[in-house]
Amino acid sequence: MNETVSAFQLAVVAIFVLLALYLAMLAFGRVQRYRLTEKLAAAELAGFRAELDLVIERKKQQVRESELSWNGYRKFEVWRKEMEGADICSFYLRPHDRRDLPPFRPGQYLTFQLDIPGQKKPVIRCYSLSDSPLHPDYYRLTIKRIPPPRDNPDAPPGLSSSYFHDTLNENDIIDVKAPSGHFFLDTERHHPVVLIGGGIGLTPVLSMLNTITESGSRQEAWFFYGVRNESEHVMKDHLAQLDREHDNVRLQVCYSDPTEDSREGEDYQHAERVSVDLFRRVLPSNNYDFYLCGPPPMMNAIVAGLEEWGVPEERIHFEAFGPASVKKVKEAHDGGVATDTAFEVTFARSGKKVAWSADYTSILECAEDNDVVIDFGCRAGNCGTCKTAVKEGEVALLQDVGADCEKGSCLTCVSAPRSNLVLDA
Ligand SMILES: Cc1cc2nc3c(=O)[nH]c(=O)nc-3n(C[C@H](O)[C@H](O)[C@H](O)COP(=O)(O)OP(=O)(O)OC[C@H]3O[C@@H](n4cnc5c(N)ncnc54)[C@H](O)[C@@H]3O)c2cc1C
Ligand code: FES
Repeated sequence: MNETVSAFQLAVVAIFVLLALYLAMLAFGRVQRYRLTEKLAAAELAGFRAELDLVIERKKQQVRESELSWNGYRKFEVWRKEMEGADICSFYLRPHDRRDLPPFRPGQYLTFQLDIPGQKKPVIRCYSLSDSPLHPDYYRLTIKRIPPPRDNPDAPPGLSSSYFHDTLNENDIIDVKAPSGHFFLDTERHHPVVLIGGGIGLTPVLSMLNTITESGSRQEAWFFYGVRNESEHVMKDHLAQLDREHDNVRLQVCYSDPTEDSREGEDYQHAERVSVDLFRRVLPSNNYDFYLCGPPPMMNAIVAGLEEWGVPEERIHFEAFGPASVKKVKEAHDGGVATDTAFEVTFARSGKKVAWSADYTSILECAEDNDVVIDFGCRAGNCGTCKTAVKEGEVALLQDVGADCEKGSCLTCVSAPRSNLVLDA
């Protein structure tokens, strides 16, 4: 009996002990879970606060930008004019009213309305901002003088670039539209970038590089700069200094035609053109955001090559300084429309009806060929000067554009008919 009781008692005690253990574990687990939940909640709250701070900061920035921005043209004066060499000159502009300048996005451009002696109408041109936006007291442009074409040496030299170089001097006043354009560095995305500038196409990507270095960002930035040789190599000391002083910057200068005096490894890194073949040899992978600006053949080859290399379209950003040529964009937007010759274009105010031809690269060109006057500036969808109302029909956009264009109008320099058209021109 004693043995039975003690066995029973033992069993009861064991059950109690197990129960107590179970309850203790449960309680401990709850406490742990509570602590974990508390920690998670605190972390979530901190993350939420950081996100909120970012949103507030962005909103403040937007408000500041819109307060400082302006509509139409504003008077600026040429503050400094500095030759960079190779027929390239930098112009530092500051607002005549001396109010602060709105920050711009690195890669954007300014649009100018120039009263050039001898011209019946103001001349409209766009020039990229070539320095970082971290200087609220000035905007800088860097402009190449454009000579007559090689196959037509008797033609007049570039109107606007000659005017900037030869006529505009320090203290002169010019009319400037606020910064615009969709080709800019996303400064909130700190993904590694490859910046590519060919010749004077250096300017917008230089603004991007200066922004990365001046803001103290640790973002990895490769900078490919393609020129013929040292005779065209501007901003040389500045770029070399950035390369020396910033571990995250990798400068790669390409001379397509080095001279005997050019020093490989010092003046330049590669005796070849900038190409995707070079990227494949030099870059550790294709996992970069690519930003490029340069002459049309270079842009065509690089955009096509990057796509072939498997770089997603949304990671390839580019801008043309003249009439667009990057086929990829044309194909993407026109779906073959521009080559369709069946459409008729009616210029209502001029009283002309013409057949669209596959030879026209844009409606603007079609108008010019048929003596219909449409004002233009950049011929690249950026300045908005060629905007024309569409009274009937549909147009296809041939490339990405920088200028705004409301429904019912089109930028004729970068549009083709998608149906028969009636235009208010
Ligand atoms: C968004 C954007 C940003 C830009 N950024 C920059 C920049 O940072 N730096 C820069 O230097 N440029 C830049 N440009 C280019 C700039 O806007 C001008 O296109 C460039 O300066 C040439 O303009 P122009 O008036 O001097 O030449 P234009 O007068 O337009 O002449 C162009 C060419 O045509 C030739 N020509 C003129 N008349 C005739 C004729 N009758 N027959 C045959 N040929 C003729 C000229 O000799 C010249 O070679 C940019 C363009 C865009 C769209
Ligand atoms: S001419 Fe500048 S947008 Fe067409």
